[in-house]
Amino acid sequence: MAVAGGAPREHIVVHGVNKSSADLKAAVDHAGTIVVDNLTELHRIADQFPISNYQLPNLWLRLLPGVAVETHHTHTQTGQHDSKFGMTSAEIMEAAQFCKMNNLPLNGIHFHQGSNFRDATPLKAAIELGLDLAEEIGFKDDWHFSPGGGWGVAYHEDELPQPDPNEYVRVIAENVIEGCKTHRLPLPHLHLEPGRSLVARAGVAVYKVGAIKKRGDKVWILTDGGMTDNPRHAMYGARYSCLSVSSPGAERSEKVSIAGPYCESGDVVIEDLLMPKIEIGELIAIPASGAYHLSMSSNYNGSRKPTVLLLEAGQARVIQRRETIEDLMRRDQAI
Ligand SMILES: Cc1ncc(COP(=O)(O)O)c(C=O)c1O
Repeated sequence: MAVAGGAPREHIVVHGVNKSSADLKAAVDHAGTIVVDNLTELHRIADQFPISNYQLPNLWLRLLPGVAVETHHTHTQTGQHDSKFGMTSAEIMEAAQFCKMNNLPLNGIHFHQGSNFRDATPLKAAIELGLDLAEEIGFKDDWHFSPGGGWGVAYHEDELPQPDPNEYVRVIAENVIEGCKTHRLPLPHLHLEPGRSLVARAGVAVYKVGAIKKRGDKVWILTDGGMTDNPRHAMYGARYSCLSVSSPGAERSEKVSIAGPYCESGDVVIEDLLMPKIEIGELIAIPASGAYHLSMSSNYNGSRKPTVLLLEAGQARVIQRRETIEDLMRRDQAI
């Protein structure tokens, strides 16, 4: 997809926790960098692509720093000591030794501690550990350091103000500059990997209300989309806010929960949110739906992914059409 989008080789960095041989082949063919997640993967690269026959992309090693950032759920943390991601310090040194012995183009260290955090403090200990290892490996000029991404956004009014990206960049830049001085390392090419903080607020999900039910203390607003286009609440209790499209500023007087049409009780997008009075047939809008939303969607219950519109300068343009029944059956074979 990156190649189809016109990304040059040197801008393509391939991450992944258990890359298949096909993934590695695609990376060798098209990427500037492979971020090696584990020793098995490193050995597989050396076996599958002997340097006598292949020009390998740069290799960075993914460090498991043993320190996570604070997020709202453990499923969005990745840096903790028992996480599935990356290598321990001892494994990093073993990998670096292997690269040296086999002339592999190792030139960087990466870590990623979790997603949607707003306190950058835990980055400091991980940067320090990353620089310790960079010094021990003996990187000289032209090395790369990537403290990942994960800077957060506010999804709900009570999470305002928005986390300030300047704070994230400041903590990283100051700690890398100071750390390189004390470790006598040349300054690296520094790579930041923000995803959500760049794109989440560019997306708004619009649903149509089809039915409303009162059950005990709950008011269910039932919409035409849910866990298949946005599984984040079902997966890890993500929170969102919601507005009436026709009267976004209306007073919020009623506590409601917003759920989809799929046959799971977990098919809920928002729980217990104060909303204005909503009528059947109305459109409602969920802001900050531009990250980890349609990219996580599924066809569960035969659901078809929605149309995506680009809104620009007062114009709306379809940039992805709605899926059809034919799309759902395209891969099926007659028996
Ligand atoms: C290695 C790596 N870098 C960067 C990101 C981007 O995270 P976010 O969108 O939270 O900034 C992710 C997300 O999972 C990731 O796995």
